[in-house]
Amino acid sequence: MKKEYYEKIIEELIKLIDEGVYIVDEKGVGRFYNDVMASMEKVNVEDVLDKKFHEAFPEVRNTDSTMLKALLKAEPTVGQQQTYKNFYGKEITTVNSTIPIISDGKTVAAIEVAKDITDIRRMSDTLLELQKSKSEPAPQRNNTIKRYTFDDIYGKNEDFQVALNRARKAAENDASVFIYGETGTGKELFAQSIHYCGKRKDKPFLAQNCAAIPESLLEGILFGTSKGSFTGAVDREGMFEQANGGTLLLDEISAMPYDLQSKLLRVLQEDYIRRVGGMKDIPVNVRIIATVNEPPEELIAQGKLRKDLFYRLNVISIQIPALRERADDIPVLAERLLEKYNKRFEKEIWMLSDGAIKKLKNHDYPGNVRELENIIEQAVSMGDNEHVLTEKNLVMPTATRRGKIQAVEYEKNIPLDKYLGEVEAKIIKAALLEAGGNISKTADQLQIKRQTLQHKLKKYNLTGK
Ligand SMILES: Nc1ncnc2c1ncn2[C@@H]1O[C@H](COP(=O)(O)OP(=O)(O)OP(=O)(O)O)[C@@H](O)[C@H]1O
Ligand SMILES: [Mg+2]
Repeated sequence: MKKEYYEKIIEELIKLIDEGVYIVDEKGVGRFYNDVMASMEKVNVEDVLDKKFHEAFPEVRNTDSTMLKALLKAEPTVGQQQTYKNFYGKEITTVNSTIPIISDGKTVAAIEVAKDITDIRRMSDTLLELQKSKSEPAPQRNNTIKRYTFDDIYGKNEDFQVALNRARKAAENDASVFIYGETGTGKELFAQSIHYCGKRKDKPFLAQNCAAIPESLLEGILFGTSKGSFTGAVDREGMFEQANGGTLLLDEISAMPYDLQSKLLRVLQEDYIRRVGGMKDIPVNVRIIATVNEPPEELIAQGKLRKDLFYRLNVISIQIPALRERADDIPVLAERLLEKYNKRFEKEIWMLSDGAIKKLKNHDYPGNVRELENIIEQAVSMGDNEHVLTEKNLVMPTATRRGKIQAVEYEKNIPLDKYLGEVEAKIIKAALLEAGGNISKTADQLQIKRQTLQHKLKKYNLTGK
C-alpha cells in the first residue's frame, strides 16, 4: 500500500472510534485530532491541528503533560485517570494513555488516547455516598437496607449445616473469610450474619461487588484518592477507611484486576493503605470477607484469582452448597418462605400441597434460594383465598429450560467455554427482545442482578434500553 494512504486511513479510523485521539509529530505539532477529543476538551479542532502543543494548550504545565513526557523522554503513560475542569467549569474524568512512537531510536510522534468516564465516575461517587449512608448509625440509616443475622438463614441439610457452623465460628473471631457459592446461595446473608453477630457489629459493614465497577475506578473506590495524584483530583476516602474497625465484603473478588489483587494482598499483610496518588500510609483495621461464585481452584487455574491472595483470605473457608445439591432443604425453605410472604402480603396461605412440593423439588434452581424465594413470593402475592398453595399456583421460570435444550444439542467441535458463551448470549438476546429491551425486566426474567446483566451485555456486545 502506498505510504500516503496511511494518513487517510488514520484520519478515517479516528473519526470512527468513540475515544478521543490526539497525535503530534516529533516537533509537537498536532497532526491528528478528532471530534471526540475536541468535545471532551471543549476546544476547536482547528485550534489544535497544525499548532504546537504549547500554543494549543498554553495552560498545561510541562511537568503535568503526559504528551511532553512521551515526546521528550519517550516515556509512555498507560491508563492514567485524570479529573479536570473543562472551559465551562464542568468536571470531567478521563482515562488516558499516551505513548511515544519510536523509529530508529528516535521519537517521531506521540499518540494520546482518552476515554471519557465522567458518567461512570459520577455513578461510582453515588455508590460511595450510598455505601456511606448504609454504614451510618441506625436513625439516619435508610432502614430498607436489611441487616441479616443467623436467624434469617434457613436450612437443615448436612453440608449446609457444615457451612453454617463455620460461619458461626467465624463470627467469634476476626480472621479473613472466603466464601464460595453459586449466585443466590446466600453469600451476602452469611457475610452479614458473620459481621452482625460478631465483635465488630457496631462498626460499619460495607460491600462492594468487584465486577460492578470499571477496573480503572476500583482502586480509587477501595483505597480512596489523593489530591496530589493528578490535576483536579480530590481527596476522598475509600471503602477501607470508611469500613475501619468493621467488615468489608468483597464480592466476586476474581473480577478484581490482577495487579490490584496484589495491592490488596499487601494491604492485608501490612494493615495500612495508601490512597491513589497519595504518599501517606493510613492505618486501617478491616476484616475482609471475600466471595466467588465459581470454584476458587478453577479461578486460580484460569489466572483470574491470585493464589497468594486466595491463601491469605482463605483462613476460614466456607462453601455453600447449591440448592439442587441439597434438595432435602427445598420443603423446609419453601415453608419458611411461605410464612415470610404470608406476613408480608397479609395472606392466610397455611401450607403447600404435596403436588406443590413435588413440583418445587423437581426444579433445578440455577438461581438457587433467590430463585425459590421469587417463586414463592410470586405465588403468595397472586394467591387468592385458598389456604393451600398448589402446583397450579407455582410458576417456574423458563429460561433454564431453554438453556437445557441448547446444552443437550451441544455437538459442535468448539471449546465448551466459547459454546456456553454463545448459548448465554442467545438466551439473553431472547429475553431482551421479550422484555422490549428493558434491562431491569430482562434481569428479573433471567433471575440475575441488573449489574450482572449489564456486565454480560457488554461482554456479548448486546444493547438494552
Ligand atoms: N439459607 C437461606 N435462608 C433464607 N434465605 C436465603 C437463604 N439463602 C439465600 N436466601 C435468600 O436468597 C436471596 C439471595 O441471597 P444472597 O444475596 O445472600 O445471595 P448471594 O450468594 O450473595 O448471591 P449473588 O452471588 O447473586 O450475590 C436473599 O434475598 C436471601 O433472602
Ligand atoms: Mg451477593
